[in-house]
Amino acid sequence: METFVAATPEEASMRAAAAVLDALERAASSGRDPVLGLATGSSPLGLYAELGHAVADGRADFTHTHGAALDEYVGLPSGHPAGYRHVLMREACDVIGLPPERLAVPRGDVVGLAALDAAATAYETRLRELGGVDVQVLGIGANGHLGFNEPGSALRSRTRVKRLAARTRRDNARFFGAPQDVPTHCITQGLGTILDARRLVLVAVGDAKADAVAAALEGPLTASVPASVLQWHPDAVICLDEAAASGLRNRQYYDDAAAGLPGGD
Ligand code: GLP
Repeated sequence: METFVAATPEEASMRAAAAVLDALERAASSGRDPVLGLATGSSPLGLYAELGHAVADGRADFTHTHGAALDEYVGLPSGHPAGYRHVLMREACDVIGLPPERLAVPRGDVVGLAALDAAATAYETRLRELGGVDVQVLGIGANGHLGFNEPGSALRSRTRVKRLAARTRRDNARFFGAPQDVPTHCITQGLGTILDARRLVLVAVGDAKADAVAAALEGPLTASVPASVLQWHPDAVICLDEAAASGLRNRQYYDDAAAGLPGGD
């Protein structure tokens, strides 16, 4: 893991954007259309804005990039504003100029467990057809979840239907009219699926994430903290601000986020 601690959330996002662009350039130089794994949540919004600036400056172009969602709610009609296809189109694809038809999202709008299981399997197949994810953007839940892999998720799990934790439903109630409108289930990439991405880039900012970040980066590798699988990945880039890093014991060993950034010291 490469862990960077930034003075500000903006600097953390810039560091993350540099890690994403570098991974996508490497993929493109091998002659394939790169695959960018996209996450919802507030954490990656600054990163998407930075990627948008890179497009505006002519440093990046996502028109030949494929997007792949990390997860999707079950049971929302297609086009629901809180559905993750819709959210990712609005908050990521539109911002970076990734064509909507190039965004793959698990189908959470099919009915019945058999159809949902088939949708999860089909999503794994789609990721393989695309050649795998080159770089997966991640946030972290306050309970240590990754995607919607809640505590207790199998460390080698694949894309599947999961029940959402009560805390996650509460955390996400702000996107729905009423807490009871938050879906109870989702389809999420598994921890094993996430680990297959060639690079992982996690952004966490704010002190609400400090405990989860400390447990994930410095605690034991355990299903109780799904994000601890980051420790197992050969190319995980962790971009934090000081607040999110405040629970880390080994803070002095981590790099200053400005180091190595284009235009940085
Ligand atoms: C949701 C998403 C996660 C995301 C989490 C944190 O639960 N499924 O992928 O990491 O929210 O969101 P935020 O960044 O807004 O704290």
